[in-house]
Amino acid sequence: MIFDKKYEILENRYISGRTWLLRVKAPDLKGSPAGAFAMIKPTYDTQFDPMMRRAFAIADIDGDEVLFFYDVYGKGTETLTYRKKGEFIEILAPLGKRFFPEDKFDNYILVGGGIGFAGLSLLMKRLKEKGKNFTALYGVRRREQLSMLDWIEENGFKDKTLIYTEDGSYGIEGLITKDLKELALEKENTALMVCGPKGMMKAVVKVAKEINIPTYLSLESKMACGFGICIGCVIKNVKEEKYERVCYEGPVFDAFDIQF
Ligand SMILES: Cc1cc2nc3c(=O)[nH]c(=O)nc-3n(C[C@H](O)[C@H](O)[C@H](O)COP(=O)(O)OP(=O)(O)OC[C@H]3O[C@@H](n4cnc5c(N)ncnc54)[C@H](O)[C@@H]3O)c2cc1C
Ligand code: FES
Repeated sequence: MIFDKKYEILENRYISGRTWLLRVKAPDLKGSPAGAFAMIKPTYDTQFDPMMRRAFAIADIDGDEVLFFYDVYGKGTETLTYRKKGEFIEILAPLGKRFFPEDKFDNYILVGGGIGFAGLSLLMKRLKEKGKNFTALYGVRRREQLSMLDWIEENGFKDKTLIYTEDGSYGIEGLITKDLKELALEKENTALMVCGPKGMMKAVVKVAKEINIPTYLSLESKMACGFGICIGCVIKNVKEEKYERVCYEGPVFDAFDIQF
């Protein structure tokens, strides 16, 4: 069931780099699958600019509370930073139809680039609950972009996460794909779950194709409606020779099925 409601803001604060954290009280969204997203209206009722809602991954669910991590780029995300604790904010969620396969594999490697890590954090929790074996790779350019470090530590995932910085200012120096091939080939029945900037996802898919390992991408195309009406977010499914809407048929796709 999809809810279109106003939820109370419990916290909305700057973390580091470009990233902010938004925590809302939204008991309706408790059962959201890992990979689902929300369309959030940054503005107040009386404001019309920017008009469209913005898409954000459901990054964590803790009891009645739902967490989002967002990077500030343009008008929508900047406006979101003005919203205060105690206010109510319009959220349409949970959205999407295809999510991360949580049961299909024995071993998972989660590959999250920058704020794309927020698209995988709920999956980490769900895999832990299911007793699945997983390692998360978190890659950024510089240390200050590691805005989810506290979340990783607070949730006891430090030992499960390998951190890569391009300039070597934290963790392992280099790109997130540095050790990917070796890690992916370590155990039988392993799959990659990926979310991040397009360039990074392309690099991951290249490795995945070389070693022929199942790979799932959570895509973050520009979205206007978020629920299949505007046809603004399509991607070509080369396996079925048809176009699919990232917001409606996705946002998670088998990397080998789409033209990417
Ligand atoms: C399913 C889905 C899940 C998403 N989850 C998250 C999430 O959890 N956290 C998060 O921060 N973002 C997430 N995004 C991206 C987020 O929706 C956009 O960053 C946001 O809509 C930008 O809105 P804006 O009004 O601030 O920027 P706009 O005014 O729309 O854009 C301003 C400028 O910034 C550029 N820009 C916009 N977004 C990005 C970007 N992501 N990277 C680089 N440049 C950009 C634009 O090209 C433009 O030049 C998700 C997107 C989708 C589709
Ligand atoms: S955003 Fe409108 S159809 Fe996907």
